[in-house]
Parts: sequence; C-alpha cells; structure tokens
Amino acid sequence: MAKAWGGRFQQDTDPRVEAFTESISFDSRLYAVDIRGSKAHATMLASAGLITDVERDQICSTLEEIRTEIEAGNFAFTAELEDIHMHIESALIERIGDVGRKLHTGRSRNDQVSTDLKLFVRDAVDLLDTLLLDCQKAFVDRCEQDAGVIIPGYTHMQRAQPVQAAHYWLAYCEKFKRDRERLADCRKRVNISPLGAAALAGTSLPIDRDMTAELLGFEAVAANSLDVSSDRDYLAEFVFCLSLISAHLSTWCEEWIIWFSTEFGFIQLPDAYTTGSSIMPQKRNPDVLELIRGKTARVMAAVPQILILIKSLPMAYNRDLQEDKLAMFDAFDTVKACLELTPSIVAGAQLQREHIASRLEDGFLDATALMEYLIKKGVPMRTGHGTVGQLVAKCEGANCRLKDLSLEDLQQACNLIDADVYEVLGAENAMKALQSFGSGGAERVAERVADWQGIVG
Ligand code: ARG
Repeated sequence: MAKAWGGRFQQDTDPRVEAFTESISFDSRLYAVDIRGSKAHATMLASAGLITDVERDQICSTLEEIRTEIEAGNFAFTAELEDIHMHIESALIERIGDVGRKLHTGRSRNDQVSTDLKLFVRDAVDLLDTLLLDCQKAFVDRCEQDAGVIIPGYTHMQRAQPVQAAHYWLAYCEKFKRDRERLADCRKRVNISPLGAAALAGTSLPIDRDMTAELLGFEAVAANSLDVSSDRDYLAEFVFCLSLISAHLSTWCEEWIIWFSTEFGFIQLPDAYTTGSSIMPQKRNPDVLELIRGKTARVMAAVPQILILIKSLPMAYNRDLQEDKLAMFDAFDTVKACLELTPSIVAGAQLQREHIASRLEDGFLDATALMEYLIKKGVPMRTGHGTVGQLVAKCEGANCRLKDLSLEDLQQACNLIDADVYEVLGAENAMKALQSFGSGGAERVAERVADWQGIVG
C-alpha cells in the first residue's frame, strides 16, 4: 500500500517498523472526533475558496459513510496506515479520488491529532462531570436515610469526636465538588483550537482558523503554531484531575473496607457489590472497593507518564507524543468505570446503626466537648485540656466513662463545673454541642444537607 508520505522514499518500510510505529491499535477510538474535525476543516476550506462547495459536500458525506462503516464494524484497520487520521483520509481518497486528496490542505496531522485529543478530552470532562454529580446525589440521598445516626470521627485512626453520619457523606460531596471545579477549569485550556497551526509554522494558504474553532465549539484559537504542535499541558492537567478523583474514591473505599470489617462492623455492603472466597465459605469480600482503591495506582501513574513524556521535548511535534494517548485513555477509562459503579454501592450500603450505637461511648468522644464546656466557664484552654486529660486518666483507671463520674469527682478536678456539665457529656450531647459553621453537629449538618439537596436537585 502506498504511503501518504511515501514520495521521497525508495525502500518499503520494514513491517516491524510499521508494527512499532502504529497507533491505530489505540487511537481508532478517536474516529468520531477526527471526522468531526475534518468536516469542520472541509467547511472552512470551501468558505475560503480552497475547495468548491460540491467538493465539500462530497467530502462530508463520504466521511459520514466512513463513520457508519466504522460503527458497524465493517472498516478494516491495518498497521500499514499508522493511525486513525491516515485510515480515514485514505478511505476518503479510495472513494472520491482527487477530491479526497484535498482534505488535508492547510492542515497537518500534528494540529489534527491535538484537535482530536482536545475534542475527546472535552467530551470526557463533560461526562465525568455528570458521573461526579451522580456520586454526589448518591451521598446526598443517604443523608436523609441516615439522619440522626452518630458516628465516631477519627484522627490517626483513633476515636476523636462524634459527628453526624451525614457529615461523612457530605465530606465526599465537597471533595467531588472540587473535582468538578478542577475539571471545569481544565476544560478552559482544553477548549482552545489547535486546528490550522498545521505542522509547526502555520500555512501560506488563506485558512480561517476562527471559523473552524467556532464550528467545533472552541472558545478561542491558539496563538502560536510552535506551541500548539508541542503542547500537551492539557493532558497533564486532565490526568491530574483524574488522579485526584481517584484519590478521593480510594479514600472512600479504604474507609468502607475498614468499616465493613468485623472489627468495625459499621456498614453492610450490598451482595451485588461484594464477592466470595474460593476456599473460605463464610467470606464476603469488598473486592469492588479494593479494586477501585487499587486502580488508583494506574490512574496516578498517568501523571508522571505524561510529565516525563513532555519533559525536555524540543519544539515542536515529536513522535514521542504519540504515547500520550495510552496514558490518558487508560486513566480516563479507569476513572469512568469506577465512577459508574460508585453510586450503586453508596446507595446499597446499610449503616449498622445498633452496632455503631452500642460502642459509641467508647473512646471518650466527649472529652473535647468537656474541655470546651470548661472554656465557656472561663477556664483557659490549656488548663482545661490538662484537667480533662486527668479526668480521662481517672476514668481509664476506674473503667468508666466521663459521664459516669459524680459531680463531686468532677468538681474536685475543677470547681467551676456545675450540674449542667451532664448536658455536654456522652457522645450524643458532645455531637449536639458542635456549633461552628462546617462542623459535624446536628444543626449545622442539617443546614448543609438542605444546601446540598438544592445543589444536586
Ligand atoms: N499518530 C500520531 C500521534 O498520535 C499522529 C501525528 C503524527 N505526525 C507525524 N508528523 N508523524 O501523535
């Protein structure tokens, strides 16, 4: 098969080189955005008088035929034709001859591949935004179902202070909110048109870059052709956005894996999202959560992969850049698959309310509330901290809780303590005492739940 670039070559390409340099095995999925870009380009060429309107229509309708064939699985891909751009162009030429040979006027594969990638990433960003919204909805929906359930909050994996269960759910909503904001910000730089930068220097032909940008929904036109040809910043940013989504998902998974253990017993996971052991009949394992956590490794690995790829590349296009797609596609597919499963797991899990409640008074979750009670009575914070520390030590010795101490015991530690101290002791009171904006107390959390219900609709 004659190569599109074969003019100056006297020898055929070694088939091993074809196999080594091809990208069709992984870039064929760009066919739809490639056709979209080519149709816009052909429309612009006609308006600039570089092809006729009849030629434009022929090119566009043949590109649609090619699309239909690809979608029906009737299109043959071969390493000889390198990549998706060459495949579509050569199919076009096969069908309409010289008219097809005009499509690549004023364009190079270098601006074409970046245009395709940007259209792909823009769609990906929009899809991820909806998937993240679905995850937020799932957590917000849990808030009503779990209203009133109090859970220990931890630092260092040690019991710290009691919070509403919904406070946990909304913590994930906030993380996903930032993920969505980051994607929206990344989208701004994705949405700048590379098309028309041609190989590296632009073109002497009277192309209209504003027109193709507008046809493809880009916000603006990239202003330096050398920069366009070498720029993959937007892929580095995109995979970083994906990595933080993965980090948030893996935090959630880790938490629920621990909560699902017999030792914690905080949560039941739905059967449909757990798996069994091949040898231990009693087992029900949180494999899906473990895999979401585990797949984070390959998503995060895409960040250094892209950064190392672009580090020290001289301008402008270098073939190294072909490797960018492997990292980005895998990271995107992985995060998409994880986000698609998340809402069902979130919705199907059940908090083990009784078990959680039965151990809620363990771990002195009310110690900080007692310290803050003392502060309100005029005790300096550090002094109150010491006083409560001593009372906790006393309880540990007597194997009791702070609320089990008599008023005399408490007053011995600090004579400013009154009978109203029992209104802050115990996990429930300690949770209710939390007042500050953003805290895990009942009133503040209820306000935030209402806000979030409005946000997710
Ligand atoms: N398959 C190539 C890639 O993905 C397309 C651009 C090739 N350009 C070139 N001048 N060889 O990067």
